[in-house]
Order: sequence, then structure tokens, then C-alpha cells
Amino acid sequence: MASTTTGKIAEFRRLLSRAHSVLVLTGAGISAESGVPTFRGAGGLWRQFRVTDLATPAAFSRSPSLVWEFYHYRRELVRTKQPNKAHIAIAQAEAKFEKQGKRFNVITQNVDGLHRRAGTKNLIEMHGNLFMTRCTSCGFTEENNSSPICESLRNRGSPAENGPDINEKDLPCCRKCKSLVRPHIVWFGEQIWDDVLEKIEKEIQLCDLFLVVGTSSVVYPAAGYASILSQKNIPIAEVNIETTPSTSIATYHFHGPAAQLLPQLLSSNIDDE
Ligand SMILES: *[C@@H]1O[C@H](CO)[C@@H](O)[C@H](O)[C@H]1NC(C)=O
Ligand SMILES: [Zn+2]
Repeated sequence: MASTTTGKIAEFRRLLSRAHSVLVLTGAGISAESGVPTFRGAGGLWRQFRVTDLATPAAFSRSPSLVWEFYHYRRELVRTKQPNKAHIAIAQAEAKFEKQGKRFNVITQNVDGLHRRAGTKNLIEMHGNLFMTRCTSCGFTEENNSSPICESLRNRGSPAENGPDINEKDLPCCRKCKSLVRPHIVWFGEQIWDDVLEKIEKEIQLCDLFLVVGTSSVVYPAAGYASILSQKNIPIAEVNIETTPSTSIATYHFHGPAAQLLPQLLSSNIDDE
């Protein structure tokens, strides 16, 4: 690794040790390093469908069976993947900050729940979570890690085969009112939930060090947060396997796999120098 990068890492670590409210934003890149395919991006296909044809309220009302098969497939796929060293470094840094009475929050665009599994607690899942359901009738929301989520979905959801539609009464249903539940995910054409936006706003206000991982600081939503923070001269660091466009306002760019870089940037065993 180039000495300039090493110097920058040391510089970042000094900033981190002085920070009182760290905010981390993670995107698809960190999940990709665990082998989770991105369906949200371009090129993600399941059967003949693009995600933009499945992850929508219209698709769900047209065929809850089809949409549940797709989500069942994704849930079962993610179960076979593990949090990587980047997820773990983030969770460990959070624990260390908490112990010191400082703030450390993670906003993720990912729905795979890998941050939870790595032990991150101060977590804002801005697009929801594959393992959460929400009742279409009473709104009751809960975590559901059952595999399969219901018997009728056992051995269904294969990208290769179309089976007959599952009867709505056999699809996942609400514990409170027995109505159909849906994945607690922000679908295309839906707004991010108000309470989530409020939480994010609060963290942006308090943040004195912003770290963007696995997404670009020049695309939404990172770019929006970065522009607010850079106006307040808050340092911004980006860790991305893709090269950063020159339009980025990030203070630091670390180019490479997050699983390799985050332990160097965040781990506590080399610091306190
Ligand atoms: C998950 O949802 C299914 C379908 O509604 C239900 O049968 C099951 O009990 C739920 N699992 C848990 C752990 O709540
Ligand atoms: Zn309900």
C-alpha cells in the first residue's frame, strides 16, 4: 500500500479518536463483499423480472404470491452469507465508542440485516430489512427470521421456475389481525419513513465525523448528507472499491475493499498512540 495511503489512514485514525459523534453510511458495496447480490442496481434479474417490476406496491397488489416468492428467495440467500470484516470492524468501533460515552451511529441502505448480525445496535436501516414484516392492514411491524417464513413458500422462489400462485391465505400473515403482511422494505415509488428521516436528520446534526462505505459520496443519499456536513467543515471519509469521481467533496478517499480497509481505519488495537 502506498505510503500516502498509510499516512491518510493514520490521519483518519487521529480524527476518529477525537470524534464525539461518528456517523457511518453503508451501501451495497459492503454487502457485495459478503457475496450478497445487488438486486436494486441495474442488471439484477429474478426470473424474467427486473427488481423495479417486483419491489413495488403495484406488483404486490397484483400478485402477493410472486412478490413473496422473490423475497423468500432473497431471505434464504442472505441466510447463507456472513457479515464480513468491515461489518465486524464497524460493530466493534461502535462498542468502543459506547463504552467511552460517545455517539456512533450507522445508517445503511442495505436490507440484508448483516450489520445487525455483526452486532451493530445503533442502526438505521433506511430501506428496511428483509427479515422484518409489516401488516398491510394494521401496520404491525416485527422481525421474522423463520426459514421458510411460511410453509407454503418452502421450496418456492427459485429463479428458474414459475409455480402456481400461492393462495393469499397461505402467505405470511399478521399475528395481531391475520391480514396479509408484506416485507418491511421501502419499495420503488415509496417514501422513506418519516421516523427514519427524522433519526437521520438528528444524526447529521450531531455528527462530527462522517464515514461513507460501499457507496459513492457523489450519489444520493450520501451526496446530500456530505454537502450539509462539508458546509460545516465536518470531515468526510469514503471507503469504496470503485474509484471516486473528482466531483466528490470527501476529505479522505480510501480506495479498496472495505473488509480490508475498515479494520485498519477503525480497529482499536493499533491506536491510542
Ligand atoms: C413468521 O411468520 C409466519 C407467517 O406469518 C408465522 O407463521 C411465523 O410464526 C412467524 N415466525 C415468528 C418467529 O414470528
Ligand atoms: Zn395486522
